[in-house]
Amino acid sequence: MKTATMTIDKAFQISAIDPRIYGSFIEHLGRAVYGGIYEPGHPKANAQGFRTDVIDLIKKLGVPVVRYPGGNFVSGFDWEDSIGPRDQRRHRLDLAWFTTETNEVGLHEFVDWCKQAGTEPMYAINLGTRGVDAARSIVEYANHKGGSYWSDLRIKNGAKEPFGIKLWCLGNEMDGPWQIGGKTAYEYGRIAKEAAKVMKWVDPSIELVACGSSHLDMPTFGDWELTMLNECYEHVDYVSLHRYYGNRDNNLPKYLARSLDMESFIHTVVAICDAVGGKKHSKKRLNLSFDEWNVWYHSNEQDQEVWKRDKWNRALPLLEDIYNFEDALLVGSLLISFLRNADRVKIACMAQLVNVIAPIMTRNGGGAWAQTIYWPLMQASKYGRGTALRVMVDSPVYACADYDNIPELDSTATLQDDGSLSIFAVNRSQKDPITLKADLRSFSGLEKYEHSVLHHDDIKAVNTEENPDNVKPVALKGGVLDNGRLEVVIPPLSWNVIHLKAD
Ligand code: AHR
Repeated sequence: MKTATMTIDKAFQISAIDPRIYGSFIEHLGRAVYGGIYEPGHPKANAQGFRTDVIDLIKKLGVPVVRYPGGNFVSGFDWEDSIGPRDQRRHRLDLAWFTTETNEVGLHEFVDWCKQAGTEPMYAINLGTRGVDAARSIVEYANHKGGSYWSDLRIKNGAKEPFGIKLWCLGNEMDGPWQIGGKTAYEYGRIAKEAAKVMKWVDPSIELVACGSSHLDMPTFGDWELTMLNECYEHVDYVSLHRYYGNRDNNLPKYLARSLDMESFIHTVVAICDAVGGKKHSKKRLNLSFDEWNVWYHSNEQDQEVWKRDKWNRALPLLEDIYNFEDALLVGSLLISFLRNADRVKIACMAQLVNVIAPIMTRNGGGAWAQTIYWPLMQASKYGRGTALRVMVDSPVYACADYDNIPELDSTATLQDDGSLSIFAVNRSQKDPITLKADLRSFSGLEKYEHSVLHHDDIKAVNTEENPDNVKPVALKGGVLDNGRLEVVIPPLSWNVIHLKAD
């Protein structure tokens, strides 16, 4: 049988893990809000119209932060439309997704929902059609205690206490030709700097994310980061990265290696941030907000049909990817990549959370269930807190179109604050089980462990409302833990969490 060795030493630490790497995203897009988190009249809806079955799944998932309200949507959004009496809110055409936005759910409702779902808002401002003035007024509305026009309006609208929104995105994907009010790197860098200045003058405690390139394959990638950071470096705290993957050519070995692409993307953006910081003789170090990541490709054709049929309708069923087991394996590896880069990736948002390229699906009037990709995110969020460890792994490797030396066993480890240790591992091999031999002798007192495995014999298996537990982690027995040495078998094509603790 193939073997991989792993040496884990508690002295070799990468960084404290920012729990916000397990964040997610809700955009006013498709059925994310309307029919997703909000469906008045549904048997499980509460008095505010929020679906409690969805809230329960989100609480179990453990997402500390939720980006909102877009996405592409935000670049044409007037935030003032989303406050005040609901029956007087404007219905507007959303040019990002060719739908009608009714603003039934707005800022106050979303902040309330976050409290109910046990999460924090990460609020994106519009730097497409709006600018510095709207940027300062929304921070005043949301975070100022009172005694000014906008903060008093918030109080009049029912929220005496400020919302205290800590994390703000300065626009969305502003380099994209598809973006409403897209910008050149220089134009964006200028407006991001000026918006950042006034937002922090209103509330110096906030943190700001500047838009990096929409994705790694943008022709302007690299130059965009250099140019816009040259303008706004000292005024922002994070740079955003977005990346979606798909198994379009049905090539599993290649697909499962896509996390290497994500890691090289992260390393390149870190290098660019540090180059700009160095050039500016700055003492400040920027970190990364990977605030859109996931698999996204299953629903592309279906969306075209929806628009042909139903353009401008409300809550269109858009981007409703149905995820299979292979997608969950890639998602597992992408999470491992975040942990390996925990010193610089401080925020990451799986895009998105409900119905729209999401770990949670709902049926209007019906059930809510977890897709395959729910499980690795849920387990990483639960067991991957504390400190990311720098582990030495020696694994068999394979090669495919894009890379040589792809580890068959993709793995890392974290040390939880309670002293327990978690090992995360994806076996990318299609046929070979791998014996993992882990040397844990630097840890004393780890005497028992649980091994959870996500596997399905059918790589294309999915979860449905009728069969929601088709792909779900199960406990695996049969390994040995003896004197600081662990030996377990990692089945082919599987996501694994091994949690070790004192007796
Ligand atoms: O998450 C879906 C869309 O993908 C977002 O609106 C946009 O930012 C990205 O292109």
